[in-house]
Amino acid sequence: MKEYKIAVMPGDGTGPEVITEGVKVIEAAASRFGFKLDMTWYDYGGERYKRTGEVLPEGAVEDLKRYQAIYLGAIGHPDVKPGILEKGILLHLRFGLDQYINLRPITLYPGVDTPLKDKRPEDIDFVVVRENTEGLYAGAGGVLKKGTPDEVAVQESINTRKGVERCIRFAFDYCRKRNKRKKLTLCGKTNVLTFAFDLWERTFYEVAKEYPDIQTDYAHVDATCMWMVKNPEWFDVIVTDNMFGDIITDLGAMIQGGMGIAAGGNINPQGVSMFEPIGGSAPKYTGKNVINPLAAICAGAMMLDTLGEPEAAKAIEEAVKTVVSKHLKSLSAGKMGYGTTEVGDLVAGYVKG
Ligand code: IPM
Ligand code: MN
Repeated sequence: MKEYKIAVMPGDGTGPEVITEGVKVIEAAASRFGFKLDMTWYDYGGERYKRTGEVLPEGAVEDLKRYQAIYLGAIGHPDVKPGILEKGILLHLRFGLDQYINLRPITLYPGVDTPLKDKRPEDIDFVVVRENTEGLYAGAGGVLKKGTPDEVAVQESINTRKGVERCIRFAFDYCRKRNKRKKLTLCGKTNVLTFAFDLWERTFYEVAKEYPDIQTDYAHVDATCMWMVKNPEWFDVIVTDNMFGDIITDLGAMIQGGMGIAAGGNINPQGVSMFEPIGGSAPKYTGKNVINPLAAICAGAMMLDTLGEPEAAKAIEEAVKTVVSKHLKSLSAGKMGYGTTEVGDLVAGYVKG
């Protein structure tokens, strides 16, 4: 029987609650589709940091390379200054494992309420390919005369030809494989960020020549936000830089029904990828059994798909569709009509068939 080695990192806040449900569901899929999951649990996160003063132990990245995938809950703790855990754990792993793609599907499932009046599931169905290792996230820059009236803060966006090109190539390949509208939109800001997005734009149209079957389009990031609300049906796959991808995928999460259902994959096509719900640690809901585990469950499905178990992934996706359309009153924490664990049980039940 096939066996996959997974590092499970529940993390902070509601992370452990949603990951527990996700594990329940992927285990159900494994037993139905005949493969095994060998899971090793890690306690990386805010509590561990508070206890030990260390964000990640030495050699953590090397150690994680032994796995075929990482299943992550959430990173971020109310007692820890913003940035320490996010940069020290999440970004450190994304960069260290060279997960250069952040893949974020935006899908409105049947029966789910969207704030966009008159839009149906067939209108809200696209994927954002976010560059995940460069841009403003690279940490380039510095500060001078901190705390004085003359303080200078510089934060630069790093865009390399190699980094931009591999992301764009992934997006073209993904768009072809997805085989829906076969349209790839570059989201940028060529009218203002004339160095960075000139590189993106030139690379985009050069690579496009190798994909004559894919229609290309360009939209500025501000206009992208507008179209995502007004005409989301125009999008199939969007490729963009790290910062813009961060922002537009939160907007995407809202139009697909909320953070409760938004999943993402940090992908290294040649290495170890990491899958997570994109909603964060939601400290105010922690420990109350009210958080929606579907985003974590959908991240689990993406993980199985990437590992080479597309049927198991599909079964989970179908089960999620059934649960949202037949059972849940809402996707919002505390308003689902069910507790976190019950939602996990429902999905696992449908996955078992
Ligand atoms: C996300 C999150 C992270 C990001 C934070 C927690 C560093 O917002 O995954 O979108 O900005 O990438
Ligand atoms: Mn974000």
